[in-house]
Order: sequence, then C-alpha cells, then structure tokens
Amino acid sequence: MRLLVCGGAGFIGSNFVRTRLRGSDDEIVVLDKLTYAGRRENLQDLEEDPRFSFVHGAIEDPAAVATAIERADAVVNFAAETHVDRSIIEPDAFVRTHALGTFVLLEAARERELRFLQVSTDEVYGSIEEGSFTESSPLDPSSPYSATKAGADLLVSSYRHTYGTETLICRGSNNYGPYQYPEKLIPLMVLNALAGDRLPVYGDGLNVRNWLFVEDFASGIAHVLEHGTPGEAYNVGGPDECANIDVVRRILELCGRDESLIDHVTDRPGHDRRYSLASEKVRALGWSASMRFDVGLERTVAWYRDNAWWWEPIRSGAYRDYYTRQYGQTLDD
Ligand SMILES: NC(=O)c1ccc[n+]([C@@H]2O[C@H](COP(=O)([O-])OP(=O)(O)OC[C@H]3O[C@@H](n4cnc5c(N)ncnc54)[C@H](O)[C@@H]3O)[C@@H](O)[C@H]2O)c1
Repeated sequence: MRLLVCGGAGFIGSNFVRTRLRGSDDEIVVLDKLTYAGRRENLQDLEEDPRFSFVHGAIEDPAAVATAIERADAVVNFAAETHVDRSIIEPDAFVRTHALGTFVLLEAARERELRFLQVSTDEVYGSIEEGSFTESSPLDPSSPYSATKAGADLLVSSYRHTYGTETLICRGSNNYGPYQYPEKLIPLMVLNALAGDRLPVYGDGLNVRNWLFVEDFASGIAHVLEHGTPGEAYNVGGPDECANIDVVRRILELCGRDESLIDHVTDRPGHDRRYSLASEKVRALGWSASMRFDVGLERTVAWYRDNAWWWEPIRSGAYRDYYTRQYGQTLDD
C-alpha cells in the first residue's frame, strides 16, 4: 500500500512508520509541519529507505496536501497538537490543526476516493469513575485538546455519511514508549529521575490512565486500516490501568531513585480523573495488545537511558523555559 502519513515525525506517527516499513511492503510519504513535537530525528534511521519520503508542510495547507497525497492509496492522520496543558494556554493551534487541518485532508481524500484513518483519543469520551467507554458512549470532552479532537472525529464521520468516503477512526488510550516528547508524564518523569531532578506530580497523583505501548497502538492502527469497516470507530486500549503516582513510583525504582524526589504541584485545571476504554470491538477484528505495562515501562526507561543523543537537545533548548513556566521549577544542567 502507498500511505500518506500525516504527523509522522511525532511520537506515535514515527513509531507507526517504522513498524510499517519493517513489517510490510508499504511505500510511505510523511507530511509533517515539524512543530516543537515533530522532529526529523524521530525518523533518522528510516531516511535512507527508498520506500520512505518526507514533505515538510501543514495539513491545513491544501497545496502541501496535494503534493504529498499524489501517489497515495490511503491516508493515516496523526497530525495534531497533543499536549492538554498547552491547549489550556494557547488553544488556537488546536482549533486550526484539528478542525481546519482535518477538513483539508478529508476533502483531498474525498476527491481522490481514498481510505482515510483518523487517529483519535480516549479523551473524547471524557472522564469515567467506574467501567469503560465503548464506541457508542457519548462524546463528552473536557479540554480544548479533547474538544477539538472530538470535533475532528465528528467531521470524519460526516464524510462517511454525506459523501461515502471510506473513513475509519482509532481511539487510543494513553501511549508510552520511545521517541515521546518529554512534556508527557512518562518521559518527563524518566528524564527527571535519570538526572536527579525533582518529579512534579499534579495534585494527589490519583488520576488513572489506561497505558498502551506505542508499538501496540501502531499495530492496532495498521490492523484497523486493513480490516476495519468503513464508517466505524474502534477503541484501542492498553492492557493495564495505573494511577499516575504509581507510574512515578515504578519509574523511580527503575532509575534507582527514591520517593523523596516527588513534588506534588498544583493540579491542571479540569484534570480528568480516569480514562478507560472497552476494546472488544477491535479485538473481534483480530487485534490485541501484546505488551504488559510492567515490561513496556522497563523497556521505555532503558530506551531513554541509552538514547541521550535524542533527548539532550530537547532538555537543553526551549523546553527548559516551558518547563519552568509550567512547574515553577528549573531543570538541572
Ligand atoms: N500520545 C498519546 O498518548 C495519544 C493517545 C491516543 C491518541 N493520540 C493521538 O495520536 C496522534 C499522535 O499523537 P503523538 O503523541 O504522536 O503526538 P506528537 O505531539 O508527538 O506528534 C504530533 C505530530 O503532528 C505534527 N503536526 C502538528 N500539527 C500539524 C499540522 N498542522 N500539520 C502537519 N503536522 C502537524 C507535529 O509536528 C508532530 O510531528 C494525535 O492525533 C493524538 O491525538 C495520542
């Protein structure tokens, strides 16, 4: 298959591209705006592959999309602003990319009659105290991030109903693994623990997430792209739930540090308490997650320990200012 992968220079997109190039005959064009979270370093080991090419551009730019989509059989859209904290401070980029960007891509897919897979999130359902959300649960997003992602999902579904476009939606739970930008919980805590910095935990740390190893999400997306029924959404959840504070404790243990490094800091406004997905529908299609959280977390910590070339430029650049603004603390050199 010839795939256009939008947002393929980010965390999940780059893992997806790597998995597909290694495990299939796919040709892949990545279209990416290279925001702070998108980095060519994430694709560095793939650049020499003749089946891979890169277009620098935004999904909301019809000319860039027309260039990148030229030879594609299908589109997979990862492109997004993804950090809830940033969506609270500057929501405009979230509206532009998720609403306008998804619209431009859908138009291009419709015109060329291409299959279109939208990568979405469990956050569109909002928080749930007990039980799990199914694909027919109402969308009830609570942050500008999740609200604009939910808006994009609705627009994607409307293209199926209105124009017959072959759309699919994959709603993943919280991902973790190699190449994740260190503003997100797991890499943030791993890098701080490795450096001996303080670990800022929001509120009481009892927010529960359903953790999914990034390679499992990549294989779930590929599975839905090939076997999913057009017009359907599929939840792709991880095998284990864990409270943030317990994630942090396990990371400290894996890094040989103790809990005295933990700082409880002012909670994020409107912080969702628990996300949980029921994934029976995608399992009925023949996919299941293969990585348990304990094993995946150990692998992830080892990857960050062994790949300082990847994170050192981030920790010594603009990320430091963002970090100080967000947590009122500084990172050690
Ligand atoms: N990280 C998670 O835990 C998680 C869980 C479920 C779903 N998702 C979804 O998966 C997708 C990828 O998430 P991620 O964690 O890899 O994000 P990321 O922030 O690491 O990467 C996003 C990528 O999109 C690119 N991008 C942003 N705006 C763009 C635009 N307008 N045009 C072109 N490229 C643009 C960025 O440069 C970057 O390469 C997102 O749609 C996100 O909502 C993420």
